[in-house]
Amino acid sequence: MQSLWMPFTANRSFRRAPRMLVQASGMYYRSDDGRSILDGTAGLWCVNAGHCREPITRAIQQQAARMDYAPPFQMGHPLQFEAADALARIAPARLQRVFFTGSGSESVDTALKIALAYHRARGQGQRNVFIGRERGYHGVGFGGISVGGIPGNRKVFHGALLPHVDHLPHTHDPEHQGFARGQPAWGAHLADELERLVQLHDASNIAAVIVEPVAGSTGVLVPPQGYLQRLRALCDKHGLLLVFDEVITGYGRLGAPFAAQAFGVIPDILVTAKAVNNGTVPMGAVLLREDLADTVIEAAEDGAIELPHGYTYSGHPLAAAATVATQQLYADEGLLERVRRDAIDTHWEQALHALRDAPHVRDIRNIGLMGAIELHARPDGAGRRGHDVFTRCFELGALVRCTGDTIALSPPLIIERAQIDQLADTLRQALRATP
Ligand SMILES: Cc1ncc(COP(=O)(O)O)c(C=O)c1O
Repeated sequence: MQSLWMPFTANRSFRRAPRMLVQASGMYYRSDDGRSILDGTAGLWCVNAGHCREPITRAIQQQAARMDYAPPFQMGHPLQFEAADALARIAPARLQRVFFTGSGSESVDTALKIALAYHRARGQGQRNVFIGRERGYHGVGFGGISVGGIPGNRKVFHGALLPHVDHLPHTHDPEHQGFARGQPAWGAHLADELERLVQLHDASNIAAVIVEPVAGSTGVLVPPQGYLQRLRALCDKHGLLLVFDEVITGYGRLGAPFAAQAFGVIPDILVTAKAVNNGTVPMGAVLLREDLADTVIEAAEDGAIELPHGYTYSGHPLAAAATVATQQLYADEGLLERVRRDAIDTHWEQALHALRDAPHVRDIRNIGLMGAIELHARPDGAGRRGHDVFTRCFELGALVRCTGDTIALSPPLIIERAQIDQLADTLRQALRATP
């Protein structure tokens, strides 16, 4: 317990009461004391096909024995091309080029860099302002925390943030949207704030706008009806690139391959990671318009490296093998559409909203197979009640996630109705037992 500094963890309290997972299969983890734990979070929004799926495990094992590593710079290996093709097949028709990274944070930084490189390649290098959004989470790279809007993630690093960044207001307003089912009716006008920021910075200086279609990490903030459409229209009007960070919403979470398709709003760059290969091997993938990539590629001299960017683990053979196997599994089982097709989202919505009368509940939100239960904060401190509910759920046999006083839920897409009910029952018990 002494050597490891755990990420995004209250290390001292963890050491006092560790929670250890030692095995996983399908919808369940097993804890070190032998208990079965229902996975209400798909690990960390990433295990969309459920745990330890045989075809993925086998593909990784075989690839590890065949070729463990290959350098991605100036060298190729067939699987990374296959993996890119697999993603292009499910991507919106406009986004057919793929750049691999090792994580969501790396994918975000990659998307920001591609935006800058694209504008420069077409003679508009002055476009260097990024517009993010309050309460956005875009990972922990300096680019990601700069465009992100989580005060706690920015405070310590304030002096080192990117210089030319502004933020849209977040879209969450419990007074107007409380207990909305799916997309709230109120709030599309908040997208018009982009018009104000364009006036302030001038369109000719702005490189890109980056948002999560559904803000996940700050508590599942579902976009108001029409909001994303308005953002898209304003980006088109002013020639700004629109980047969707789909690290959480990608790969079937909303009942379509990507939120872009679920909402019918297609960005210019789409950032993914996590469920790209079911969370098995670190991997991120940026999907983008082919003409963006081609503009950068064609602007460089023949023989020169066009984009001075990439990672040692871009398209890693094990990650690529896992991606090809995962995408095949998603296709074989129809998982990318299951949530809508089988009306799992309807059952999910009913089960969550039935908790409205449970103690401490302030708001409930849902879309696809994502959900959040926001609690009233306790007088002894913001976030304490949320953390207590999280630990009680774990004791009662379910893994949920707390972000402040909001319980966030995102189970694997293979969840059965009875398991949704089990998760809701566990939450009700935990809420009743928590002061
Ligand atoms: C929307 C979004 N972007 C980026 C990231 C960062 O991904 P990673 O932790 O793989 O760097 C996350 C992680 O949860 C995320 O939710």
